[in-house]
Amino acid sequence: MVSRRFERGADEVWALRDVSISVNAGEVMALVGRSGSGKTTLLNILAGLDRPTAGEVFIDGERIDTMSERQMTELRRRKLGFVFQSFGLLPLLSAQENVELPARIAGFGHGERVQRAKRALELVGLTKRAQHRPYELSGGEQQRVAIARALTCEPALILADEPTGELDSLTAKAVFALLRDLARSEGITVITCTHDRQVMEMADRVEELADGRIVKGHEREVWEYVQAKEHHVPEPAGASHHWPKGESTPEDESPPAERAQRPWDW
Ligand SMILES: Nc1ncnc2c1ncn2[C@@H]1O[C@H](COP(=O)(O)OP(=O)(O)O)[C@@H](O)[C@H]1O
Ligand SMILES: [Mg+2]
Repeated sequence: MVSRRFERGADEVWALRDVSISVNAGEVMALVGRSGSGKTTLLNILAGLDRPTAGEVFIDGERIDTMSERQMTELRRRKLGFVFQSFGLLPLLSAQENVELPARIAGFGHGERVQRAKRALELVGLTKRAQHRPYELSGGEQQRVAIARALTCEPALILADEPTGELDSLTAKAVFALLRDLARSEGITVITCTHDRQVMEMADRVEELADGRIVKGHEREVWEYVQAKEHHVPEPAGASHHWPKGESTPEDESPPAERAQRPWDW
């Protein structure tokens, strides 16, 4: 049961309230919820980059919220891989060198690093691009390099924050399918924040946060919306949408039909 309070001046914000969640080894879980619902806070706590105000966090049986910075750094190296929305590759390094980086940080010798990076690049189908710099690669290829980088140290858990957020929908689907399939074949658990319906559909499980709490059933606004949308043709411009109660209509230049695809992401 995890809670996280932030102080903002005299105000306090409960970014997470009594969140109790457990993810099975090998499971691919999508964490959804509108902007500000607490997704990144939860991911940061799992990454050991932030600590809960109350509650306990375990990864692979190890309690992490009480670990020292040093222990946490060590655990991140041994057990965690990260994939970010904007890929996070170093522009002056080749794909191979980017993928080697976590192994370098973890202190592996040259031979071992090269072997690990080669294998990881092979897993994402980019052996031929090993010597290319990020700017010579497409967005989808860059994210595949980032996935390879996350795999280098054979993590138990990959944390991903909007991994398809900067990809077109076809590429997004292919990239996330790759991540999911690799997680399955390598026995890695994946927790990903997402607004992407394709990611939600490919995940083994979708959990939704609203105002810092896990919501279930029909309270799951985003997930219900995405599921309903399969049988739903967007209304013509000007027609009223069922915006959730208590929220003003977004000030957005894009046409309503387009906006309606992601009403939670304002
Ligand atoms: N460092 C911080 N200081 C103050 N408030 C924060 C901080 N980080 C997040 N929050 C607040 O916590 C809530 C959840 O934020 P966040 O986890 O980033 O949501 P999401 O990733 O779902 O958009 C928001 O109200 C946000 O403003
Ligand atoms: Mg976020």
